[in-house]
Amino acid sequence: MTRTFDQQGNLRTWLITGATSGIGRELTRQALESGDVVSALARDTSPLDELAQAHGGRLLLIPADVRDEQAVRDAVERTLARFGRIDVVANNAGYGLFGAVEEASDTQVRAVFDTNVFGVLNVLRATLPVLRAQRSGHVLQGSSVYGQSAHPGVGLLAATKHAVEGLSDALAAEVAPLGVKVTIIQPGLTATPFLANLDVAAGLDDYDQTVREVQKGIGELPASAFSAAARIAAGIRTAVDSPNPPLRLALGTSSATGMRAALEVRMTDLDSWQHVTDGVDR
Ligand SMILES: NC(=O)c1ccc[n+]([C@@H]2O[C@H](COP(=O)([O-])OP(=O)(O)OC[C@H]3O[C@@H](n4cnc5c(N)ncnc54)[C@H](OP(=O)(O)O)[C@@H]3O)[C@@H](O)[C@H]2O)c1
Repeated sequence: MTRTFDQQGNLRTWLITGATSGIGRELTRQALESGDVVSALARDTSPLDELAQAHGGRLLLIPADVRDEQAVRDAVERTLARFGRIDVVANNAGYGLFGAVEEASDTQVRAVFDTNVFGVLNVLRATLPVLRAQRSGHVLQGSSVYGQSAHPGVGLLAATKHAVEGLSDALAAEVAPLGVKVTIIQPGLTATPFLANLDVAAGLDDYDQTVREVQKGIGELPASAFSAAARIAAGIRTAVDSPNPPLRLALGTSSATGMRAALEVRMTDLDSWQHVTDGVDR
């Protein structure tokens, strides 16, 4: 086992949200196996009990809902009391909402923003004072292929991930001079309970040819279309280990392909309509 130390010889400390399942669970497991210490947050931490027993005091389990700012602040206090510092913040907790933009209810939309966007902000406000004081740290912002692209059925999920990406662009530039790094994590389809945990909006017949076709298509995808969560976690750890991590990290060929296609459409629109764009300058 290779233990990871910072420049002062401290064990590297992770704070991971959504650590009980899927990508977050793999990240937790791999960080522990590489010798790091982890503060693991989730609403119900019991799925990590065995891992905690196996790794003794190096895994701190903290029941915390990311929607509850005070609970997140308390979790950061407990992390500092146990480990003394935070080196990597993995803003990973999140879930999906599937359905046409028009189909999703106000309650469903506010709920998914509450976790995927306002939860991320709660974690940032609680952890950045620690990282700024240290003048070091790495924030991993949980996005997705849908942080740069969208297709029928994922409009609201994409809205949350686009929000995370927009604020992360600014955040990265704000905290870089303070010694803090930011990487936006963009997995493609990954084999986790994510699809089982999807919230689904009520169906309107008019969206059968678009949204329901996509839903059917996703349901029929072969297992080979999904990356293993362990590989996604390993990719994230490669970026964390790098002295020059990227601002954006696409994980999985499907993620890169989807984002490239979306970026090309944007470039085509910019180029094709440049005469109108420039025409309003005068
Ligand atoms: N799987 C994919 O295809 C895929 C693709 C791109 C991006 N992603 C992103 O990757 C991240 C992890 O997803 P996953 O695939 O690993 O899904 P997952 O297996 O469903 O895990 C989600 C985790 O988030 C936690 N969580 C959800 N709501 C929470 C809340 N309000 N407060 C605290 N924790 C909460 C869950 O724990 P509790 O329910 O116990 O709280 C769970 O540990 C998400 O941000 C997702 O958008 C996933």
